[in-house]
Amino acid sequence: MKLISAVIRPEKLDDVRAALSAVGLNGMTAWPVSGVGQQAGHREMYRGQNYTVDLLPKVKLELAVHEENLEKAIDAIVQSAASGTMGDGKIWVTQLERIVRIRTGETGEAAF
Ligand SMILES: Nc1ncnc2c1ncn2[C@@H]1O[C@H](COP(=O)(O)OP(=O)(O)OP(=O)(O)O)[C@@H](O)[C@H]1O
Ligand SMILES: [Mg+2]
Repeated sequence: MKLISAVIRPEKLDDVRAALSAVGLNGMTAWPVSGVGQQAGHREMYRGQNYTVDLLPKVKLELAVHEENLEKAIDAIVQSAASGTMGDGKIWVTQLERIVRIRTGETGEAAF
């Protein structure tokens, strides 16, 4: 089991959800965050405007996936979140120790 964490452009959230759903991945958590990457202090486009990059609004995503779904999840996020310009975001993958569905008490692969 893997935990995918991603930071994306807020306006890409609907596209990313649709792309993940299209490969059968529906569960996720998304929340608004502020972030900055390697352009700190330089210029980056946000909503058609040029900003000197400090912390900009982004959306953070987390989704737990089976190992076998990892690559297609990453591909779906990369393809749907990309605009091709600076600030498109980043993805991290970490090992997931445990997952529990609270309603049923199911754990592991049954709990996704
Ligand atoms: N090293 C990092 N650690 C934690 N979060 C990061 C890091 N780099 C980027 N982020 C997060 O990702 C968001 C988007 O980063 P961004 O796409 O600008 O990355 P980048 O490495 O600067 O790539 P690019 O050159 O394409 O802009 C940031 O606003 C921040 O939330
Ligand atoms: Mg950047």
